[in-house]
Amino acid sequence: MHLEFDIITLFPEMAEGFFASSMLARGQKNGLIDIRTHQLRDWTSDKHNKTDELPYGGGAGMVMKPEPIFAAVEQLRKPQSKVVCMAPDGLALTSQLARELAQEEHLIILSGHYEGVDQRVRDELVDLEVSIGDYVLTNGTLAGAVMIDCVSRFIPGFLGDEKSLTEESFMSTFLGFPQYTRPADFRGLRVPEVLLSGDHAAIAKWRQEQQTEKTRQLRPDLLDT
Ligand code: ADE
Repeated sequence: MHLEFDIITLFPEMAEGFFASSMLARGQKNGLIDIRTHQLRDWTSDKHNKTDELPYGGGAGMVMKPEPIFAAVEQLRKPQSKVVCMAPDGLALTSQLARELAQEEHLIILSGHYEGVDQRVRDELVDLEVSIGDYVLTNGTLAGAVMIDCVSRFIPGFLGDEKSLTEESFMSTFLGFPQYTRPADFRGLRVPEVLLSGDHAAIAKWRQEQQTEKTRQLRPDLLDT
């Protein structure tokens, strides 16, 4: 399986270091993913390379113009491409959605200003609008990078250890359990005895209790579903 990402943004440099680091760098080297960043301004045709304008009808902020975005997508699009627009008013990014997007062959990701993009882009070009959370970032570049990271983890072979994904599907219902590593005694703070016991059943039970309690306290909404 191989997934290609093209991300179109006014700030490619915000995400390039991220894509060149750690697991995303390794995934590209191993041929599981390709990530290409594009400067939206390269598709402008006026002499000021304008990508936004005042909104019709008035109001605060600027709106991204349709022409350069249409030109960029029309150049990068293939028959199998899916176009995703990062937007705070989009569908919430969840493990479930990331797992579905990991089945695609080519994702074109539009990262715009927080004020928004011309509605004709959203109506005519975009297949899916995605939000990474109920807060507003200054632009969608980091949001696009977060989505690429999250989707890539579901590509078979990407993590190396597929067990992490199995444990995680449990984590979508419960929050994680506390993890400890050496030393067993750090400044008098001791690792819970059960983890040193070698009793796997007791460890599993302890972890589950910890998860349930933490979930009840911090995310009771997860227990309702
Ligand atoms: N752009 C600005 N805020 C965003 C968010 N929360 N998710 C996706 N894109 C965004």
